[in-house]
Amino acid sequence: MRLYVPHGLLLMVVLLFPDTNCFRICSYNIPQFNTAKSSDYNIIHTLTQVLTRCDVSLLMGVQELAALKPLLAALNRYSEKYTYEPVSSKALGTDPKNLEHYTFIYRTQTVNLTGEHQYQSADFVRPPFAVRFQSNKTHVPDFVLIPLHSEPTKAVQEIDKLYDVFMEVYEKWENQNVMFLGDFHAGCAYVTRADKKDIRLFSNTSFSWLISDRMDTTVTDQMDCPYDRMVVYGTSFLQQIKPFSANVFNPIKTFKLQPSWLVKVSDHYPLEVELKSSVTLPHASPLYFLLLILHFLYLTL
Ligand SMILES: *[C@@H]1O[C@H](CO)[C@@H](O)[C@H](O)[C@H]1NC(C)=O
Ligand SMILES: *[C@@H]1O[C@H](CO)[C@@H](O)[C@H](O)[C@H]1NC(C)=O
Ligand SMILES: *[C@@H]1O[C@H](CO)[C@@H](O)[C@H](O)[C@H]1NC(C)=O
Repeated sequence: MRLYVPHGLLLMVVLLFPDTNCFRICSYNIPQFNTAKSSDYNIIHTLTQVLTRCDVSLLMGVQELAALKPLLAALNRYSEKYTYEPVSSKALGTDPKNLEHYTFIYRTQTVNLTGEHQYQSADFVRPPFAVRFQSNKTHVPDFVLIPLHSEPTKAVQEIDKLYDVFMEVYEKWENQNVMFLGDFHAGCAYVTRADKKDIRLFSNTSFSWLISDRMDTTVTDQMDCPYDRMVVYGTSFLQQIKPFSANVFNPIKTFKLQPSWLVKVSDHYPLEVELKSSVTLPHASPLYFLLLILHFLYLTL
């Protein structure tokens, strides 16, 4: 009996203190993120709670780069361990009143930004802005993130054209560790089951869709649509992804928010996925190490 108690205790404490060594990539569409929206303290607070969970986050819907200032300030105030930096595309879009900057926010202590590439093509309303990252926290030496915030009515065509973006990026950086992420509008009326045969990212089995058709990435109860997605190319990157870690993150449950309030931030949920960490536990987590010592003392005393 005596042997089992500390095990239970250890397990309980480990569960209470989630693995902080994981490497998390997130994606969040925040519609109309402008200076008016980012001057709302409550919105910034919720975004800070969501984004400080992630090593790299893709933000969509950023209309004004100045809107990022209060967000970055809050992230860097809130986090004791990490410094967050943004990298943004130029203003993209066809309607001058509705331009967006793809923006990635990343922790400078856990990732290095090693490349940026703006895809040039009239095939997209907001052509992908690919970024390349390197992190000693993961097993993958470096990886490429390709974002897409699709135009709803052109979703099928734009998702299909991601294949061409993949080929260009692959040739440019000779890197196959590619993840596509963002609000693809890949569901409900915009992308139907019959449309899938026209999308190379679906028909070519080298691409793995981490967020399934059954998931609901929208906040409202009226809609169940898997609009937001994460897709990975090849097996080497896929093997570095923690099984079942690709998910819709629900801030309502985790931070006990009202759905009617959360929609002021976004009508989408954030997505997240974890990469396997290259850091060994005792080295990385002093807490875990301490618990092992306590566990040992408990057994020997
Ligand atoms: C990883 O990089 C960070 C930031 O440059 C550095 O502080 C850390 O010591 C590195 N870790 C390893 C295991 O090399
Ligand atoms: C970033 O790059 C520097 C220089 O190559 C390296 O020393 C450092 O460990 C890298 N940081 C991370 C987090 O991988
Ligand atoms: C899928 O795409 C990859 C990368 O371009 C290519 O090498 C492979 O031949 C394609 N597979 C099929 C079945 O078309």
